[in-house]
Amino acid sequence: MGQNILDYETVALQDEASVLVIVDQTRLPNETRLLRLTTQKEIWQAIYLLQVRGAPAIGVTAAYGFYLAAKEINTEDYQEFLARLQPAKEYLNSARPTAVNLSWALNRMHRVARCSEALGVAAAKQCLLREARAIQAEDIETCRRIGEYGLSLLKPGYGLLTHCNAGQLATSKYGTATASMYLGQQRGYHFHVYCDETRPLLQGARLTAFELSEAGIDVTLICDNMAASVMKNGWVNAVFTGCDRVAANGDAANKIGTLPLAIAARRFGVPFYICAPTSTVDMETGSGEAIHIEQRPPEEVTDMWYRERMAPEHVKVYNPAFDVTDADLITAIITEYGIVYPPYTQSLAAIMKQKAAQDK
Ligand code: MRU
Repeated sequence: MGQNILDYETVALQDEASVLVIVDQTRLPNETRLLRLTTQKEIWQAIYLLQVRGAPAIGVTAAYGFYLAAKEINTEDYQEFLARLQPAKEYLNSARPTAVNLSWALNRMHRVARCSEALGVAAAKQCLLREARAIQAEDIETCRRIGEYGLSLLKPGYGLLTHCNAGQLATSKYGTATASMYLGQQRGYHFHVYCDETRPLLQGARLTAFELSEAGIDVTLICDNMAASVMKNGWVNAVFTGCDRVAANGDAANKIGTLPLAIAARRFGVPFYICAPTSTVDMETGSGEAIHIEQRPPEEVTDMWYRERMAPEHVKVYNPAFDVTDADLITAIITEYGIVYPPYTQSLAAIMKQKAAQDK
């Protein structure tokens, strides 16, 4: 019997070999293929091509990518070391624009590099390795805490609906939106999870339905356009989704198709929760209007997953990878520091202040 997908690390550094090993998420669930990334280009491509994806996992990958870039720089001159790190940071940061965890992780790594000058280049590289490992370890604990807070909102036997993959594969363990499902499973909650297939890249069908089934959770796969009916039938007690960037006013960018779920949830009186680590909260971005939404190739809509092309040649395609759910449609945002309720401008500022105080 093959290894359970949940036993794999989404991202793993083999430091002695200077290799970053990821599970190629474009091959799941049919094939569990490990990719060994060594160059900056390979790491960039793995993020761009969604071989590794999901906001926290992208952040962890970028942190290790930054460390590997630093490791390759052969100089004793600290200013040269810093100067050569800058383009590496910008390059990795250009792989995907919407998930703030990418720039968050790179900025955190860059800060460590800038603050380690007194130690010299060799010791600074060790500090960067420790920081990247810390980002990964914190991600596990963060997801676990999000899961505990999320579970406090749920009752045994609940029907839950989720979108895209905010699962273990999108993080270092547990996932964000799925963390409460995993903890509930361990504690006998017997949730019924409806999982949107998530057009066009099918992260829900290929990844979430897969990892939840592997965990023994009762999961039902639906097409995205079935979610409103499932809610109308009364089968959903709460919607739990992940997030790529929360603006300071609580507007939240997540996988395209999240906004219609929030609208339907409001219509049918179902609470709609966004699960977001504070690394996904971007207090520099005032509202959803300022969030850069990634546009992706038309072939993802017209050709991919079909035996043959399913759209007329040359038809215009609009393929945004994310949408923004307006803050007033979000019942609460579940972070690792607690559950944040409207008005978000105040509550998010307060939780970020609390985090800053604890980090000191
Ligand atoms: O394009 P993807 O697959 O990276 O999109 C992922 C999502 O939208 C997730 O919900 C989000 O990154 C949160 S992952 C914990």
